[in-house]
Amino acid sequence: MSLLKVDGLRAYYKTEMYGISRMVRAIDDVSLELQPNEIYGVAGESSCGKTTLIKVLSGTIKPPLKIQGGSVKYQFKSSGVDMADVSHEEMQRNIRWKEISYVMQGSMSVLNPVRRVVKTFEDIISTHEGIPNHREFLERTREHVKKLGLPPDVLNSFPHELSGGMRQRVAIALATVFQPSLIIADEPTTALDVVVQRGVLQLLKEIQGQSKNTVLLVTHDMAVHANVADRVAIMYAGRLVEEAPTEIIFQRPSHPYTRHLINSLPVIGDKSSKSGLEGTPPNLANPPDGCRFHPRCPKAMEICKTEVPVMQDLGNGHRSACHLITGGKESSNG
Ligand SMILES: Nc1ncnc2c1ncn2[C@@H]1O[C@H](COP(=O)(O)OP(=O)(O)OP(=O)(O)O)[C@@H](O)[C@H]1O
Ligand SMILES: [Mg+2]
Repeated sequence: MSLLKVDGLRAYYKTEMYGISRMVRAIDDVSLELQPNEIYGVAGESSCGKTTLIKVLSGTIKPPLKIQGGSVKYQFKSSGVDMADVSHEEMQRNIRWKEISYVMQGSMSVLNPVRRVVKTFEDIISTHEGIPNHREFLERTREHVKKLGLPPDVLNSFPHELSGGMRQRVAIALATVFQPSLIIADEPTTALDVVVQRGVLQLLKEIQGQSKNTVLLVTHDMAVHANVADRVAIMYAGRLVEEAPTEIIFQRPSHPYTRHLINSLPVIGDKSSKSGLEGTPPNLANPPDGCRFHPRCPKAMEICKTEVPVMQDLGNGHRSACHLITGGKESSNG
């Protein structure tokens, strides 16, 4: 059974400036499922909606972001949760940290800059489980941190005393105290250099391997997905354009946008210049009709300008939304 089912999700930012209201269609008709015990990667260029998707899945939406349609349903071990029905209190008390934890983009936001790291652990554990015995709490926290290969004295440090990589490990340690069903990590290694990055990713992989929970890993860096993810989803301009097991995404990408992302990866020993794709992702307040990628697509056809391509099942867990698959003819299952 799937851990999470997202169906036809739409989430827009509604902003108002000088009396003119604008709708930024950041998530537009996204459907996907996450399975227990997998690392699911989400990729795509900046501003394609990755963080917005995470905000909805983790139940951390606030205005001007609003759900416009579709559904987000979890099946945790003990209960099923429809995110449309869950109250803010229920979310805070029983779901956040315990079932779903979220390592945010620039994870520092979870660490209080003026308090020692151990205090942040104390805050989170005391809100969710209470701390009847302080010595036990300290022991358990030290044990947890040690298990993740962190020196126990990080607990007595202030966040600014730690390196970026160490702070990111601390954020991961916090996210895993309660062994949640789903760990969401948003660009967890983007600000780190390559060597440190490898360590942090290794840690995430190890934790997943031990706990057999689900990790939703968001990063624009395809090389990270190649190394870590079991399956990869590609987003473009608020829509999911392709999804497949990682080997298939890299060996037989179907969507021209996916091919572009893969081709722009550096290859060791290759000195030829990479042919970049012209242009930038569209403004989501006024996205193009049809396939949102058509203005940049080297393979665009007439139909791409007017018809939104339907997600096609290509077998082996591979799906892709591109008119090339049906040879430019409208598909029958749309
Ligand atoms: N608070 C906000 N108000 C209005 N628009 C917003 C807000 N936050 C994000 N957006 C818009 O929503 C779209 C999706 O943004 P989002 O942050 O989800 O992208 P992203 O894929 O995470 O990008 P990045 O790789 O840069 O983190 C963008 O067009 C962005 O400008
Ligand atoms: Mg983001």
